[in-house]
Amino acid sequence: MAAIDGAEVAKHDNRKSCWIVLDSKVYDVTKFLPTHPGGAAIILKNAGTDATEEFKKYHPLNYVHDLPEGSVLGSVNPDTLGNLREKKEVNAAPAQSADGDKEIPHLTMCVSCPDFEKAAKAVLPHKSYVYASTSANTGLSLKTNLDDWSRINFRPRVMRNVGDVDSRRSIFGHTSQYPFYISPMGTLGAIHPEAEPEMVRGAVRKGAHMVVSTASTKTSDQIMQTFQDEQQRLNNKSPTRLFYQYYMPVDRKKAIELMHIVKKAGYKGIWITVDTPVLGKRTADRVLQAEEALAVGLAEEETASWETGGENAFAPAMGGRPVSGQLSPHTTWEDLAWIRKEWEGPIVLKGIQTAEDAKLAYEYGCDGILLSNHGGRQLHTAPSALMTLLEIRTYCPEIIGKLEIFLDGGLRDGSDVLKALCLGATAVGVGRPFMYALAAYGSQGVERCIDVLADELTLGMRLLGVTSLDQLKPEMVNATRLLNEMWRPENNSLSIKSRL
Ligand SMILES: Cc1cc2nc3c(=O)[nH]c(=O)nc-3n(C[C@H](O)[C@H](O)[C@H](O)COP(=O)(O)O)c2cc1C
Repeated sequence: MAAIDGAEVAKHDNRKSCWIVLDSKVYDVTKFLPTHPGGAAIILKNAGTDATEEFKKYHPLNYVHDLPEGSVLGSVNPDTLGNLREKKEVNAAPAQSADGDKEIPHLTMCVSCPDFEKAAKAVLPHKSYVYASTSANTGLSLKTNLDDWSRINFRPRVMRNVGDVDSRRSIFGHTSQYPFYISPMGTLGAIHPEAEPEMVRGAVRKGAHMVVSTASTKTSDQIMQTFQDEQQRLNNKSPTRLFYQYYMPVDRKKAIELMHIVKKAGYKGIWITVDTPVLGKRTADRVLQAEEALAVGLAEEETASWETGGENAFAPAMGGRPVSGQLSPHTTWEDLAWIRKEWEGPIVLKGIQTAEDAKLAYEYGCDGILLSNHGGRQLHTAPSALMTLLEIRTYCPEIIGKLEIFLDGGLRDGSDVLKALCLGATAVGVGRPFMYALAAYGSQGVERCIDVLADELTLGMRLLGVTSLDQLKPEMVNATRLLNEMWRPENNSLSIKSRL
């Protein structure tokens, strides 16, 4: 067989045809690219070159025998080595931001959730970043949300044949590709010019469910229209469904009107937010408002937040800036009776923070509860959703399995999702990471963020020793540290006694 010229090897330097020289032999590794455990990129970097030195850093040379049959093309002509492709150091080219005028890291560089926040911070106007990132008071509720996930450890099982894993999960009968969904976040127009529709496109393309906020920039109908268009484009193959987050309008007539609009539009369930009788103290927002007020020669007059704007202002067909006093502080458990009459689908209470209220929600016939402290934006030093779940397991375990239990707050890794599911959650909501991904990269960022979480999740399943989510059990986690800190009535009565 005639020796192969280096110039010929140099031509095969891409994904469609990838040749490399190893120990004087030429290999066609095109088919091997997708399965290389170290990723395709490192091979492509060496495509068309003599990769022997690079190869030896990672593998013994006889590993080449493991390449698929027919990969060896022959020997390279030693006199033509100078014709091989010249190796270049390649760095990921920076990408353009969603609005096109700022440089941010290439999307490929986002390999875990916190990367999206860094990119978003670089592109968002300061005011929008403050809106997305702000939390209540000193920020302790947010910090607890983030920290508590790392205070639980896994108890992995080994040798369980985890070759194939299935991470699908059903929410009220609607199966999603994943046990996580995109949490409702208001006023996405402040984050991306295409607002909620852009988020929806990313969700549909990846098959993730999404809960749409009452305080959206676009109307519920516009958002649903985008959903339907995108579904149609994909021949209705995406399992994604939209649910609706409901801020109870003060006026009952308007409250009912909104429910009818949402039902007619085709949302599959309502998540009634119950942790916002009034808006929490969003400290960074307040600082910004004070600065803005002073800049125009005024003292700060009134606080307002984008988060409660949108349809809640009750022009159902319009988005817009908020008017204070939109949230209803008057809602009680008794309201569930008329809500049930107006809404036949699933009802979830969003913002449950104690075992007592979880039990009440069950007794009042709710279909689901979302354990949440609103991403640490409402009550200062509120419990994390994880702590509330542990309370439920301790004080009213009988409700687990009787209604769907969701959690949100501080989930930044697919393995956090697994911990929640081990302890009995149906699925979890993820908020800010998707908002940041949207800010920096639009719907592609949303897709990437879903992929990142899904990859961490399935990797975690394999390392934990399970192949489907219904195999997850409480004994697969060690929650001792959090359990030691859990609220105990006996400790509290002790402290009351000691004061008497
Ligand atoms: C910028 C922003 C806006 C939000 N808007 C709403 C909203 O309109 N309605 C609502 O019920 N929750 C809202 N939330 C709370 C989220 O639904 C969710 O509970 C929280 O973001 C989860 O925490 P995480 O961001 O740490 O994932 C908002 C959260 C953020 C960060």
